[in-house]
Amino acid sequence: MKYNFDQTIIREGTDCEKFDARNEIFGRTDVIPMWVADMDFAVAPAITDAIKRRAEHPVFGYTMRCTAYWQSIIGWVQRHSGWALQPEWLDFSPGVVSGIVFALRAFTQEGDGVVIQPPVYHPFARQTRLNGRKVINNPLRQRADGCFEIDFEDLDRKLAQAKVFLLCNPHNPSGRVFTEEELRRMGELCIKHDVLIVSDEIHCDLVFKPYRHLHIAALSEELAQRTITLIAPSKTFNIAGLSTSVVIVPNPEIRKRLQQEFEKMHVDQGNIFGCVALQAAYSSCDEWLDEAMAYIEGNVRCVQHFLETHLPSVKMVHPEGTFLLWLDFRAWPMSHEEIYQFLLDKAHLGLNEGSMFGEEGRGWMRMNIGTRRAVLEQALEQLRQAAVAAGLGK
Ligand SMILES: Cc1ncc(COP(=O)(O)O)c(C=O)c1O
Repeated sequence: MKYNFDQTIIREGTDCEKFDARNEIFGRTDVIPMWVADMDFAVAPAITDAIKRRAEHPVFGYTMRCTAYWQSIIGWVQRHSGWALQPEWLDFSPGVVSGIVFALRAFTQEGDGVVIQPPVYHPFARQTRLNGRKVINNPLRQRADGCFEIDFEDLDRKLAQAKVFLLCNPHNPSGRVFTEEELRRMGELCIKHDVLIVSDEIHCDLVFKPYRHLHIAALSEELAQRTITLIAPSKTFNIAGLSTSVVIVPNPEIRKRLQQEFEKMHVDQGNIFGCVALQAAYSSCDEWLDEAMAYIEGNVRCVQHFLETHLPSVKMVHPEGTFLLWLDFRAWPMSHEEIYQFLLDKAHLGLNEGSMFGEEGRGWMRMNIGTRRAVLEQALEQLRQAAVAAGLGK
């Protein structure tokens, strides 16, 4: 390994949400934070070097995104998925969620329906509601083998009432990376009902082999023409605090309307360090990502082995991507709230409670494993001890 993912990094005291907001979020500071989706690893040196080089210049005035910036995005997507982007399809958004909100505001009216697939990343429902649009749920179903799948008949019915389909691929928190067949079927239904696809693909680089991320917009010209794709280096390279994301819109009409919405809000400026970091990340950090994924996969195996050995009553959904695990605690003889409190008070673990991703998430918890192996092992040992004391583990 060229990069050291076992390096101890103290994040406390850096105003980082994951550690420094523990009291606010969990009501205590003695929990290992395994919630908000960033990683505890140092970013690739190429990124910090680029930021340092720029920081040495003493002026931080208004910035612009140069040709090399856009080319770095085009190069990355071409190398990693083979999708040939045209420069004019690309735009900036400070965040993926703000990009989704701009799309909702540009293409729907108050009261219009937006289909989401819960349990799903909570801002999908929250931001839809906050903007006066109607959430229409097409819940994922769990198969006998634990894997989540799409209920296409229900999706067909739900899309008939909607203007936008908000796709999360890879899917957070289920860890699904949708297959070509699934994407094509979802796409066909959106075409049938003339629904715009807004595809949040923020986790698209965080996929375990042999799974492969496919951009729904890259599957056909027809799908490209009705899809807004959102990607970012933020999760991939652990730079979420730099607020720099990418919007991809091949359809010129849709692009124009979306750009008008961005203009209304006047949020196109971005920030110097986000620009610099995106370029470095997308140009020269492929090897870092390969190693990070191998490390995270080791963490997945570690949790899987732990649960099989010590806590078979808790089931893990096998993740096809992301550094987030979806854990099923429904066999425990406790309510959802009691399980969450038990994990906080007895195991001293700060996870995301599953119902925040939708009612379907009751009895489930999301665990962020983007951390050092030693921290993960400590967390699992705390869980084991608490479970053994409660007669739930061995
Ligand atoms: C699916 C998904 N979309 C978007 C985000 C956040 O994106 P941003 O911070 O760029 O708004 C997250 C963060 O966890 C996520 O999991």
